[in-house]
Amino acid sequence: MFDFSTPVDRHGTWCTQWDYVADRFGSADLLPFTISDMDFPTAPCILDALSQRIAHGVFGYSRWKHDDFLCAIDHWLSTRFNAPVDTAAVVYGPSVIYMVSEMIRQWSAPGDAVLIHTPAYDAFYKVIEGNARQVLAAPLRKTGNDWQCDMRQLEWQMARPECKIMLLCSPHNPTGKVWTHDELATLAQLCERHNVRVISDEIHMDMVWQGHHHIPWSVVGERYALFTSGSKSFNIPALTGAWGVISDAQDRDNYLAVLKGRDGLSSPAVLAVSAHISAYRDGAPWLDALRHYLENNLRYVADQLNQAFPALNWHPPQATYLAWIDLRALGVDDEQLQRVLIEQQKVAIMPGYTYGDEGRGFVRLNVGCPRTKLEKGLQGLINAIRVCLA
Ligand SMILES: Cc1ncc(COP(=O)(O)O)c(C=O)c1O
Repeated sequence: MFDFSTPVDRHGTWCTQWDYVADRFGSADLLPFTISDMDFPTAPCILDALSQRIAHGVFGYSRWKHDDFLCAIDHWLSTRFNAPVDTAAVVYGPSVIYMVSEMIRQWSAPGDAVLIHTPAYDAFYKVIEGNARQVLAAPLRKTGNDWQCDMRQLEWQMARPECKIMLLCSPHNPTGKVWTHDELATLAQLCERHNVRVISDEIHMDMVWQGHHHIPWSVVGERYALFTSGSKSFNIPALTGAWGVISDAQDRDNYLAVLKGRDGLSSPAVLAVSAHISAYRDGAPWLDALRHYLENNLRYVADQLNQAFPALNWHPPQATYLAWIDLRALGVDDEQLQRVLIEQQKVAIMPGYTYGDEGRGFVRLNVGCPRTKLEKGLQGLINAIRVCLA
């Protein structure tokens, strides 16, 4: 019903993934598997909604606080996660990281610390340090193919007086970990005990694979800010736009006052609002077909990699279309691998150290693309590993 196999040429569309690959990798003619967006056109229902809105032709100031938007969100959270939302608590923002940044400022002072699970999405380090807060790392440990959080070590970190916020990534980028109900409940208890506020970044919530279930923080937590967007799931990040739930009325008012007053952002990107309404009302069949395609892509990566290097015994992640590949069993040198990938194989794949020191020995391969592109990129990775091992 939906075509995810036919490649669409994105060159010349000012897209970060292809047109600006040289900024990070130093070379322009690379096949990119980098920043987390996908090479697919968005859902047909979204394209229709956008076409209609564009045909109207008038793009004056807009609003997000209306039933069309709020009820579409409630519908999505209710039907996908069985977690209806108090629509009065919903907030909007231009991006998830903008919203995270603002709540860090609201809930902590310069010099305070924000706890994150490492390795971590690189923007987390930047948003914490850019706000003059310290990063407190709670390392995730790999046991078999799962990632575990050492709750005793985490509590020890949380007990530090400077620790004011836990910035949770749920599901977790880059490991793909899906937090279980028990883990979330324990985290909630510990945060409560140590008076640590929670910002839960749930932007990857829709990309959770068979056998795993995303549980929104709103199910377990009390005083929190949960931020997300349809941008990853429906591949619309360049429209900009995110939303969330801030549970406490005063916190919410403070956030909205800053959005409107200090930052002059009260009028949302109307195309983003329109896209979200359409996605959350009518986008489920497309998303489920896409998820099926992506899961097969991840399985393909596992089959090919393990065939080439049985010692890897790599398993697809629990969530996200980002294959977090542990190459440590092969003892490949990270810097040499990057050199060979870029110079010889002409492929751009994120080195694991982008996500902190615990990412050394890993690469992050974005599989949000047609299979034919993935085949080329994966072959490039396999070839590059062979060169490094020779
Ligand atoms: C965990 C996580 N949060 C946030 C973002 C970016 O979201 P936004 O562009 O809305 O700030 C990403 C993008 O890769 C992400 O992986």
